[in-house]
Amino acid sequence: MATADVMEIDTDTTTQEILLAATNHDIPTLRTLLRSPTGSANVQDPDTGFTPLHAAISACEPDEEASDPQETNGEGDAVHGAALDEDGAVQTVKFLFENGAIWNDLGFQDETPGCLALRLGLRKVYDVVVEAGVRAELLLARMDEFELLMGGDDEEDEDEGGEVEGFEVVQAEDGEELGQATLEPNGDGVKEDGDEVPQLVEVSADGVEETLDVNSADYLASALTFKDDRLLDADKNGVMMAWETDIMQKTADLLAPEEGLRVLNVGHGMGIVDGIFQSKNPGTHHIIEAHPAVIQRMKEEGWDKKPGVTVHEGRWQDIVPKLVEQNEVFDAIYFDTFAEDYAALKEFFSEYVIGLLDQEGRFGFFNGLGADRQVCYDVYTKVVEMDLFEAGLDTEFQEIAIPDLQEKGEWEGVRRKYWALDTYRMPTCKFVG
Ligand SMILES: C[S@@+](CC[C@H](N)C(=O)[O-])C[C@H]1O[C@@H](n2cnc3c(N)ncnc32)[C@H](O)[C@@H]1O
Repeated sequence: MATADVMEIDTDTTTQEILLAATNHDIPTLRTLLRSPTGSANVQDPDTGFTPLHAAISACEPDEEASDPQETNGEGDAVHGAALDEDGAVQTVKFLFENGAIWNDLGFQDETPGCLALRLGLRKVYDVVVEAGVRAELLLARMDEFELLMGGDDEEDEDEGGEVEGFEVVQAEDGEELGQATLEPNGDGVKEDGDEVPQLVEVSADGVEETLDVNSADYLASALTFKDDRLLDADKNGVMMAWETDIMQKTADLLAPEEGLRVLNVGHGMGIVDGIFQSKNPGTHHIIEAHPAVIQRMKEEGWDKKPGVTVHEGRWQDIVPKLVEQNEVFDAIYFDTFAEDYAALKEFFSEYVIGLLDQEGRFGFFNGLGADRQVCYDVYTKVVEMDLFEAGLDTEFQEIAIPDLQEKGEWEGVRRKYWALDTYRMPTCKFVG
């Protein structure tokens, strides 16, 4: 199609034409369409929510109903009787990313393009999506840092066009879309400061969509419910749950493999990991905890009187700089807070671990970022590994099998399923070299 023709494209049909070209893995037509004034790699089918990425991927699924090769169903779904091959999808998906496609837009079936690729067993496509996700998230983080340096206002971001809730469009200076990154919660569910955090649309355990706006300040002021198998905040978010005990045990075993070590744990919660650390007879055991109700309970349980234990009451952001000043050094550091975003974890390991950890020591954290969706977990695991490396830390991940928590009824009475995967990647970090 000549450029002159492109200018005359009927805006009403552009979306369908782009979706169809993506479905057909027709890169030349896509190129022409995306150059048109109304062309975008992020159009969405009004009926299915499919983006061109979804369309290109789903074309690899044999469509039993569409036996006529010319048939179009107008939904961005595969229009072929026979599925197209994966290599064509890889090329098309790459092309769409080069043209600003958003890696994690949801279709109306609650699937991102990565979820779809995974479900269809398209490993090569899936890897391309994960790589694009990593690039977008790193870029977003850099832009946030840059904005902070420049004293920017986060609200401006939210006013820029093309956003969906919980997501932020990444743009170059000239306004061209470079991709999109989520502002995802950590695995325990929520973000830090209200003004930095868009509202999150969450699907509760019983499948109801609701808007969640939780932040550290609200959490720390909220009432908590302690039960044998869980600690819930006032909105029934799972702060900590007993099903994580196996993760805590294996983490503590790796971080503190012998007796007499100097241990720091940030976030006491149900005291599971601290109990395990105690069973290893640490030389010293520092615990930082910010929530008054957790601190109260710690006192009732006598944590403040245990030999060798120091309980620091307050947010780690206020406590840790003092520990650094006092030259406190630890052989094992574990970090597992709640209602804080990835930026908080990153700040902890980038700014403070270097001052707190012995040269031969080990650092670990609860690796739950994006754990309600495999593709997000895969993206964030890579992002955190890269950021840790930049902070001078080498990370090893060990896999821990997680049982079917839904089947076991773990989410009953909990607002949000913050874990949906069958494998936990347990990180242990040591200084590079
Ligand atoms: C997920 S729980 C920790 C669970 C713990 N690993 C266990 O084994 O039971 C998170 C804990 O971090 C605490 N917390 C949240 N934000 C904090 C902060 N900024 N500084 C210190 N503690 C914080 C919460 O009150 C909560 O007790």
